[in-house]
Amino acid sequence: MRSISIAVAFAIGRSTFDAGGFSGRRARPSRMDPNGPRITYAGYLRLNELLGLQAGPDGHLPVPCADEQHFIVVHQTYELWFKQVLTELDASVRLLGQPSVPEGDIPRVVRHLERVSEIFRLLSAQWKVMETLAPQEFLAFRDRLGTSSGFESWQMRALELTLGLSDEQRVEGADPIGHLRRLHSVGDMSDAALADLEARVDGTSLHDVLLAWLGRTPIDGSLADAEGDGAVVAAFVDGHLAAMRSHADEVIARMVAVGQGEPEALERRMSAGVDGAATFLRPEGSIDRARAGLLFIESHRHLPLLAWPRRLIDTVVEVEQSMLAFRHAHARMVERMIGRRMGTGGSAGVDYLDATTRYRIFTELWAVRTMLVKEARLPQPRDAAFYGFAGSD
Ligand code: HEM
Repeated sequence: MRSISIAVAFAIGRSTFDAGGFSGRRARPSRMDPNGPRITYAGYLRLNELLGLQAGPDGHLPVPCADEQHFIVVHQTYELWFKQVLTELDASVRLLGQPSVPEGDIPRVVRHLERVSEIFRLLSAQWKVMETLAPQEFLAFRDRLGTSSGFESWQMRALELTLGLSDEQRVEGADPIGHLRRLHSVGDMSDAALADLEARVDGTSLHDVLLAWLGRTPIDGSLADAEGDGAVVAAFVDGHLAAMRSHADEVIARMVAVGQGEPEALERRMSAGVDGAATFLRPEGSIDRARAGLLFIESHRHLPLLAWPRRLIDTVVEVEQSMLAFRHAHARMVERMIGRRMGTGGSAGVDYLDATTRYRIFTELWAVRTMLVKEARLPQPRDAAFYGFAGSD
């Protein structure tokens, strides 16, 4: 039996465990050096600057009332977490965007993305703190906000872009990036913030690098650049579609037998599912190898070699789900706070926010679920030993 490691199978390089080594560290001056400056808690965290930033638009401390300070603190903590999310996403894109991803880097990407999910979960819960502000208490200082709105949060736009949200996927008529460019043109946004955003508009997203990486999935033991790969992948796709078709026939027969539904209507619905899968896998008539790779991983989840790839896919789905939960919870908090009135940013308010909860960036990861067939009904993966533990024979 052939043995192979994840590194070889995904056409990737040597393990990174030996890259830095524990012994290769350069000596750094110790913070405890008796001649060095003393590091205090406040100094390390720059608390004096941080705690001086809650003065509100007028810049006077203390801010007028506890309610408004609370409003500012809640917003600032969100922005701090957005900053951390961006750092985690940038690291993920860097790692997964390598032309060949070392095997030890997939768990690293998973760790970064797990942190993103946890942050969004925390942020979903944090709307509860905002809800301790009663609508009347908010109205007392709402006019001071002017036209400012979370719609102008460039970090939110940066993280949407880094995940891979495109302009076409946004709510019709919403142009937050154009709005930020206009703010910059009148001096209300810094050059550095706009430059960072523009780099992300033109840059590579997590969605891009994930698809490129999925495109290199070994399918039925065949590597993407191997001779004859096209035929192996086509056979896999056809086998899967045939399994879907035979499953559809069985479902129709079972439902008709118990008198549940008209045969023609059932046939139409089930065929639409199979046709949809065929179009998904061959969008322009030829096979999309990233989608086929995704289907292979999702179909044969138990194969040891696929353990980290499927964990990565699950984690990306989790990131998107936790972000949607965050959007949804924001909309409910806003509905409770201002009802159906217009937002300070001029949008339709809650209706706009609810529309953003329909965003899906990783559409392929969601779509593939519709076309899964239980493994017992699928053709056995060709060359299953290929996906065994490294070192097994
Ligand atoms: C009383 C509290 C809040 C109210 C009433 C509120 C209301 C709204 C409304 C109505 C919008 C739609 C755009 C507009 O017309 O203004 C919006 C967008 C947004 N808000 Fe809030 N918000 C509140 C607190 C927060 C907080 C604490 C954050 C944290 C940063 C936040 C972040 C956002 C973001 C990122 C958007 C843009 C959403 C998108 O376009 O996808 N909001 N908010």
